[in-house]
Amino acid sequence: MKLSPLKAFILLLAFVATACHHKADLSVAPPKPLPPGPEFKCSHDTIYFRNSVLPIIISGCGKTGCHDEATHKSNHILDNYANIITLVKPFNPQNSKLYTVLFSGSEQRMPPGTPFTIEQKSIIYWWIAQGAYNNKCDSAGCDSTNVTYAASIAPICSAWCTGCHGGSNPANGMSLETYDNVVACANGGRLMGSLRHDNGYSAMPKGGEMLSPCEINLFQKWINIGKP
Ligand code: HEC
Repeated sequence: MKLSPLKAFILLLAFVATACHHKADLSVAPPKPLPPGPEFKCSHDTIYFRNSVLPIIISGCGKTGCHDEATHKSNHILDNYANIITLVKPFNPQNSKLYTVLFSGSEQRMPPGTPFTIEQKSIIYWWIAQGAYNNKCDSAGCDSTNVTYAASIAPICSAWCTGCHGGSNPANGMSLETYDNVVACANGGRLMGSLRHDNGYSAMPKGGEMLSPCEINLFQKWINIGKP
């Protein structure tokens, strides 16, 4: 098909408009993510891959039908450091695919459903800007002296689980967004087996990575003391 000069001009305008829109979103560094609470025993200026970045990517991008091992759309499996880092230019978020695909522009914006929040985007931005290391804080948020749903369980679920087990069409027909949801899951008896990756259970969070032993203990302790 041959393009008339007018059509070609309109196409060019549309291209320039989307290209500029893309650039405008990306040229400004987002604000630094909110500082962690006092229970966070590592550097408050560092964005840790295992604590902050991986959960966002697993539950936002590793869903069934997206970039999990079975589906791996456009050949990107996004469930561990080795495959995530292939989309990153350390210290250079603006040129890292992992960051640029989060914005609308010439490429298809990811994730296709609900876009990441500003906070989630800024975590990814600052992790890359700091060098995109495979780092983690072991003692983060794992205080088991006073275990409650609000203080101990809900933050883990919203970081690691609700990206899949949330919204209007939760994975496995099972939301983990509220106290009642998580209690129902625990009462069903499948929760601990999945978290411990026991035989006969689907390993959670889906995608290979396991919660830390301390986080898994928080769930067990919460169940043992009557799910406060
Ligand atoms: C990437 C998406 C994803 C994430 C993240 C995820 N799940 Fe799942 N979950 C699923 C899917 C899909 C199923 C259905 C079973 C399957 O396909 O393996 C499932 C099933 C389950 C089951 C039932 C397992 C069984 O063997 O009966 C439990 C319990 C569960 N998830 C808990 C969790 C918890 C707790 C977290 C967070 C620590 C979590 N999931 C994170 C996708 C996810």
